[in-house]
Amino acid sequence: MNLIKPLTRHLAITMPAISISVFFTTTVAFAQTSLPVVQIQADKVTAKMPTTFYGLMTEEINYAFEGGLYGELIRNRTFKSDSLPQPIKPDVYDPAKYYPAKFAANVAPRFWSSVGGAALVLDTNAPLNDALNVSLKVDAAAASKTSPAGVANGGYWGIPVEPKTAYTVSFFAKASPGFTGPLTASIESTNGKVFASVKISGVTGEWQKFEATLKTKSVKPSKDNVFKITTATPGTIWLQQVSLFPPTYKNRPNGDRADISQLLTDAQPKFLRFPGGNYVEGNNFNERFNWKQMIGPVEQRPGHRSCWGYWSTDGFGLPEFLGWCQDIGMEPVLAVFAGYTLNRDHVTNGPALEPYVQEALEEIEYVTGDASTKWGAQRVKDGYPNPFPLRYVEIGNEDFFDRSGSYDGRFAQFYDAIKAKYPHLKIISTVGYEQPENLRVHSRTPDLVDEHYYRSEEEMEGQSYKYDTYDRANKTKVFVGEWATRVGTPTPNMAGALGDAAWMCCMERNADIVLMHCFAPLFVNVSQVSGQNRSMQWASDLIGYDALASYGSPSYYVQKMFSPHAGDEVLAISAQNLPVRTAPAGRGGGTRQIKSLFYSATRDSASGKITLKIVNSADTAQSVTIAINGVKSVASKGTATVLKAANRTETNTIKDPQHLVPVGEKINGLGTSFTRTFPPCSITVLELNAK
Ligand code: AHR
Repeated sequence: MNLIKPLTRHLAITMPAISISVFFTTTVAFAQTSLPVVQIQADKVTAKMPTTFYGLMTEEINYAFEGGLYGELIRNRTFKSDSLPQPIKPDVYDPAKYYPAKFAANVAPRFWSSVGGAALVLDTNAPLNDALNVSLKVDAAAASKTSPAGVANGGYWGIPVEPKTAYTVSFFAKASPGFTGPLTASIESTNGKVFASVKISGVTGEWQKFEATLKTKSVKPSKDNVFKITTATPGTIWLQQVSLFPPTYKNRPNGDRADISQLLTDAQPKFLRFPGGNYVEGNNFNERFNWKQMIGPVEQRPGHRSCWGYWSTDGFGLPEFLGWCQDIGMEPVLAVFAGYTLNRDHVTNGPALEPYVQEALEEIEYVTGDASTKWGAQRVKDGYPNPFPLRYVEIGNEDFFDRSGSYDGRFAQFYDAIKAKYPHLKIISTVGYEQPENLRVHSRTPDLVDEHYYRSEEEMEGQSYKYDTYDRANKTKVFVGEWATRVGTPTPNMAGALGDAAWMCCMERNADIVLMHCFAPLFVNVSQVSGQNRSMQWASDLIGYDALASYGSPSYYVQKMFSPHAGDEVLAISAQNLPVRTAPAGRGGGTRQIKSLFYSATRDSASGKITLKIVNSADTAQSVTIAINGVKSVASKGTATVLKAANRTETNTIKDPQHLVPVGEKINGLGTSFTRTFPPCSITVLELNAK
């Protein structure tokens, strides 16, 4: 624990039900009252708050990008969701090669349906190119003016329609000889109301790209709609890369959904850990995050079977992660594939690993190189003229699952190669100190280790003093690259938010060793949380959405309360008379007593403003005496921002998105010592104007 000075005594105070050992100083007169006392030692800065302390972790899970952040509205736009699994073992796998997708014969594509009796089949004899080596053959021989025929797509659990909005439709098409067209592209409700439609002429026997705009009128927002391409003249047409985009955040081409982007922007994250998570690894070597197949024009990207059970077109690829960073103002934290997959295949360090090391070096060049470098020039071509500021590279993901013992050697090979070419980069090991000693990296000293914590509320609160006693002599810093209080589904409830806030107080207090952290997973499409083809693979995610709307969980609001109020200095803080509450003991059943008050203090050195965060996880209100030493004065006026709930099971949902939101108020009666009552189940950010 960060303790204030002078430390004059060390006493054991007996609390109801538990005995806790605390330090306190005789300089605070009321330290022996029964109220909890939180003391800020404002003349003792224990850490410079890292500028990239709060961030996001992301991967393709729960329809995070496709069916989520990525603006694309058409599901299975490349018709490759039906491709057959082709797992390839590392000893026979050539990382430089693309293994074309294969399909069963006479299959109609999933997520597409026939309109007007057209026959639909996947056709591998009429590919658009090597990457998109299949197309949708639409036999509309019976089409007529009174009964147009074609295809419909229901999107990701609906196609959203907003009033007076321009949607960009594009697709590649060709037709059988003699087809006169035109094609009609439309957005319609499931019961046939047409919101917008456009005619597209000029389809010939050769593949061509078509683009048009679908503009809606003053209609009510809705999502139970479909997108259609039909013809009123008979013929056969082939389609590929069928796309429909709403206006995107900051109007970026191939960009992101505006509402979700705005939620993120509001929380002011400073870095993005991508592309995983398990997504960087893949189930098999040929299903890893193969960044070279995720750059360039989207119709040249083959897509891949992702580890979370659905196809990824990779329209949201490496350049799009970078565009996202640019739009929200985040620094990339890049995870590179490290020669280990989720099915526990690996390549041993040495020559077999070298192609993957080179891949990683080239990926770093893609992110950071200027136009004079091969891969920097490719990024410029992809629409990003300026190199991105990269400081951290993570080698793999959760390699503590690799029980072959190969991680140390693999890490070392990546570490040496990256440090040789990019000495300024900090290298992160995926085996943190929460893992057994024998699984950690020993042959090199990682700059940081990535620790992962998915816990119950009680566990999260129970470990919320963990880093206070950490060995400060250890050179390796901590990146808590995945953590969450997993209570509530699909998004966390107030219990989750309380656990999160307690844990973030711990990390803030210890920002000298915890340099960065990010909640995970970030996104969930809540349209169909169970069953076949479900939209959720992992419960308790920060932000939920369907095709039309999005919302932040209480945990999201805690991020939004903490991140913008991080300050640039961490102040010494300690407490006495900490209260406890009765909580479930865990798997074995029963109950136990755990602390119910959590705190951290930071300062904005330019203004002197002190931010004090207090979490009261008890079901009852708690008065706390707050003492601020080491300042001349604290103004009596300040602000309080409070997130609270009548009980810890309360939450936000897609239907009740703002049930729990932080409320700000101006407050009086502050000073260098004051007592404030914190509501039950609450998280409070107090801003104190100190001099
Ligand atoms: O966040 C969900 C998953 O949890 C991540 O993909 C993986 O790294 C962890 O096991």
